[in-house]
Amino acid sequence: MAAKNRASRHQAPKGTFDVLPGDGAARAAVAAAAERRLGAAGYGRIETPAFEDTGLFARGVGESTDIVRKEMFTFDDQGGRSITLRPEGTAPICRAYIEHGMHRLPQPVKLWYRGPFFRYERPQEGRFREFNQVGAEAIGSDSPMVDAELIILLDGILTDLGIGDARLLLSSLGSPGARAEYRDELREYLRDHEGELSDEVRDRIDSNPMRAFDSDHPGTRAVMDGAPRMLDRLAGEDDEHFAEVRALLDAAGVSYALDGSLVRGLDYYNRTVFEFACDRLGAQSGIGGGGRYDGLVELLGGPATPAVGWAAGIERILLAMESPPEPEAIDVFVVSAKERERAFALVAELRDRGLAADLDLADRSFKGQMKQADRSRARYAVILEPDGTAKLRDMESGEQRDVDRASIASELGAGD
Ligand code: HAM
Repeated sequence: MAAKNRASRHQAPKGTFDVLPGDGAARAAVAAAAERRLGAAGYGRIETPAFEDTGLFARGVGESTDIVRKEMFTFDDQGGRSITLRPEGTAPICRAYIEHGMHRLPQPVKLWYRGPFFRYERPQEGRFREFNQVGAEAIGSDSPMVDAELIILLDGILTDLGIGDARLLLSSLGSPGARAEYRDELREYLRDHEGELSDEVRDRIDSNPMRAFDSDHPGTRAVMDGAPRMLDRLAGEDDEHFAEVRALLDAAGVSYALDGSLVRGLDYYNRTVFEFACDRLGAQSGIGGGGRYDGLVELLGGPATPAVGWAAGIERILLAMESPPEPEAIDVFVVSAKERERAFALVAELRDRGLAADLDLADRSFKGQMKQADRSRARYAVILEPDGTAKLRDMESGEQRDVDRASIASELGAGD
């Protein structure tokens, strides 16, 4: 009966999720590790809006990418402007770099960010329509030291979080001129094997032949095993740049596997590209990735400016963490049978003095309050007795002793 009259319930949209209080500690640990490592390396936090003009992504990420072709949440606002929920952070940060004249600052400008991103993808484990990334971008230097610094920083963050076993895949796409020549060679190779390729790959031989490396179609994969690789055709300064990146990673003791089939789903890359993958994650094994994008700032209307960066998926990091941190225990739970107002005042005072303190707010019996103290994983309970005395109970050992009410905060280690 009741069910019939109940208003229809809402659920979070497909591919999205709620972050509940129990998940907070692990998320905070990821944010703290990123902030610590990146902040200490001179990266400043930047925040850009959750939506941008659609044209920024169409141009910046690339018209032929899956992201722009089928994954953007795009709509017209009430003023008739086409806007898009950001699918990634690099193009918006280049927009901000140009808009705020950051090329006048000492280069490179080192920035990091964290926040929600949106892609209309088929939801599955580790793949969402709204997800969170932490990312870092260094804009304004073509030195291989910046590529290496950024890779080492992500490696350090993952190690701090207990995911030091993620595999680092490394490649170079060369510079645009060399890549254009290589693309022609790859197109020719693909046309020679057209009959064995998936329809999707065949349709994109002209617009984006390198995506063929990403296909999971068995026939295409077999063809790609024998395909020419850009990595084998690196020459001149591209080759030197890549050798220097590798040498710096070697010197830092960061191990990697060269992977000439590594393609990234965004068009703006040149030279170094990389990805960290974790086998525990199954199909969506990419924890984070990035690379150089020396042409993007200019493509978006700024001065010619080399740049490099990465982003990592926070939900994927959380899935890969083997022992995520538990929610913080509280310091003290104040229990009282009759003295509710004094308990309330004491908790307020303890909180003022920096302690994590709590009390029952649901009129529980004394026994119920002790249970609640246990559930809250408090280190101590303070028991206010009706005769004006108080007891301090160590919740782990069960030891209990009298305590002077006035000195409870200092007994618990609070400052003044
Ligand atoms: P991306 O490889 O598209 O690169 O995304 C980076 C990371 O975001 C992925 O490795 C993955 O962990 C996470 N991610 C992507 N899509 C989803 C999804 N649908 N659900 C959950 N997690 C996801 C970029 O976004 C570039 N902007 C990185 C970059 C920065 N390149 C240079 N600078």
